[in-house]
Amino acid sequence: MSTSTREPTETRLDYRAFTSADIAAVHEYASDPVVTRWSTWGPNTLEQTAAFVESAAIAHRAQNHAAYSLAAVLSGHVIGSVAVWTTDFSDHNGELGYTFHRAHWGKGYATEAVCELLRLGFGPLELWRISATCHPDNVGSIRVLEKSGFTFEGRLRSHRAVNGTRRDSMLYSILREDYTQA
Ligand SMILES: CC(C)(COP(=O)(O)OP(=O)(O)OC[C@H]1O[C@@H](n2cnc3c(N)ncnc32)[C@H](O)[C@@H]1OP(=O)(O)O)[C@@H](O)C(=O)NCCC(=O)NCCS
Repeated sequence: MSTSTREPTETRLDYRAFTSADIAAVHEYASDPVVTRWSTWGPNTLEQTAAFVESAAIAHRAQNHAAYSLAAVLSGHVIGSVAVWTTDFSDHNGELGYTFHRAHWGKGYATEAVCELLRLGFGPLELWRISATCHPDNVGSIRVLEKSGFTFEGRLRSHRAVNGTRRDSMLYSILREDYTQA
């Protein structure tokens, strides 16, 4: 299903690079098994969260124009991790992803963040196609993608191997022309 990209009527989140001072805040949601239920990672140990935050900070410092891996900040508090990255330079393809603290679900923050990721992906990253995959039962994430103007392309059979079990993924995408026409 295709829907038109919806701009949030107000923006409440700020986005910035991670620093090591963010590890505790990120770990609050990255260690929550409800948050990571449909993810290919987690629930994290503190060491895993620290490694994620450090690698995101290093990638940001590299400034190689291949990815944005950012903290989503609400009133000074990190409430989520959001990213858009190039998967294929020659074809200008990329992906995006997002995770938010459970206390802040259902308030439109992920949809607002996707709007920013699309701006970065189709802007500085110069992508032509941005895709996202999610677990077939992750209805919240599917809804975010639909609200953000993504088109459902199909079900990828046995796409991910998570904790020794293979599972399907739902594949969504948005093209530059979808984005500019919306
Ligand atoms: C998926 C996730 C990012 C959504 O964040 P969010 O800030 O709550 O998203 P939004 O508020 O922008 O939109 C969520 C939409 O899903 C809907 N939704 C959420 N759970 C739902 C459910 N169980 N059944 C039906 N709709 C649901 C909400 O009602 C809302 O739609 P609406 O605006 O039409 O009412 C958040 O739940 C999360 O961090 N989950 C864990 C990590 C994750 O799954 N990341 C994505 C991996 S692909």
